[in-house]
Amino acid sequence: MKNILVTGSVGQIGSELTMELRKRYGNDNVVAGGRKTKPSEKLLNSGPFEVVDCTDIDVVNDVVRKHEIDTILHLAAILSAVAEANPQLAWDVNINGLYNVLEVAREHKCAVFVPSSIGAFGPSTPLDNTPQDTIQRPNTMYGVTKVAGELLCDYYYKRFSVDTRGVRYPGIISNETLPGGGTTDYAVEIFYEAIKNKKYTCNLGAGTFLDMMYMPDAIKAAIDLMEADPARLKHRNAFNVTAMSFDPEIIAAEIRKMIPDFTMDYDVDPVKQGIADSWPNNMDDSAAREEWGWEPEYTLPVMTKDMIEVLSKKLVQK
Ligand SMILES: NC(=O)c1ccc[n+]([C@@H]2O[C@H](COP(=O)([O-])OP(=O)(O)OC[C@H]3O[C@@H](n4cnc5c(N)ncnc54)[C@H](O)[C@@H]3O)[C@@H](O)[C@H]2O)c1
Repeated sequence: MKNILVTGSVGQIGSELTMELRKRYGNDNVVAGGRKTKPSEKLLNSGPFEVVDCTDIDVVNDVVRKHEIDTILHLAAILSAVAEANPQLAWDVNINGLYNVLEVAREHKCAVFVPSSIGAFGPSTPLDNTPQDTIQRPNTMYGVTKVAGELLCDYYYKRFSVDTRGVRYPGIISNETLPGGGTTDYAVEIFYEAIKNKKYTCNLGAGTFLDMMYMPDAIKAAIDLMEADPARLKHRNAFNVTAMSFDPEIIAAEIRKMIPDFTMDYDVDPVKQGIADSWPNNMDDSAAREEWGWEPEYTLPVMTKDMIEVLSKKLVQK
């Protein structure tokens, strides 16, 4: 990775991944691609920024040519809950946008990182210890686009030797940029509300177990996989990666260890609950561990402590 483009760099993962890539590979060598959302001063001032709508192949092509990009981390996407509200948009961005990026990568011989998701599974998938290779019949537009994306990435590697790589991210918990409309957003919001109001109304029901990961591990997964020796990779795209699995009761109990008077009640959102119920309770990520040494650092207690410490400072400053 010498000259890197991050699409969707203003989003939850992109905003932090771009800064880490700039630290490691040099500020000038990492182009932040954004679209409508205003980038933070930090992102805008620390390196090159380009407006990149991934549904416009000419724009993607021009930016890749202009900056002599050799690696694209393609994070631009429409997330699960927003995709259910606007499936046509989700198809356009998640499928046509990805196709454009892969075509440009083929033309300019770029490596490409594409995150898939736990949303690529469905109700007929074994939901406990979900295997790397298993049934994938999602019943959401997000899931449909994620499975198709995984297959498209495999195809571009096999057919055109494009160096595609990717992981299936679980719900990502972070304290810098708010999540962009996913089903696991509650696991971020709960921290903000616990600190600000000491109470939270959860939109997923008790007993809804889902895989989760703290942002530093999500960043590590992307960089470690892109740096991995390709000779070791039997899979290339869509590696299951996880760090922890919990339900709302378990994370609330963990928060209560630091904020004892925190209370939580429920107002279940049927759309989000339906999506969550079709996703794994916990994934088997042994293929990632074996093929490129994946190992998360953050457990639920360590993450909870860090989230509360960082957010408490941040919310006081505001
Ligand atoms: N955050 C999670 O919990 C999670 C979990 C699993 C997978 N993922 C995947 O990781 C990737 C990044 O997710 P995120 O959480 O940062 O999402 P996000 O919604 O926070 O960010 C995505 C960004 O893409 C941008 N975008 C939308 N349409 C675009 C277009 N046409 N062209 C260019 N940019 C466009 C949005 O403005 C946004 O800034 C996505 O592929 C997502 O599916 C995320």
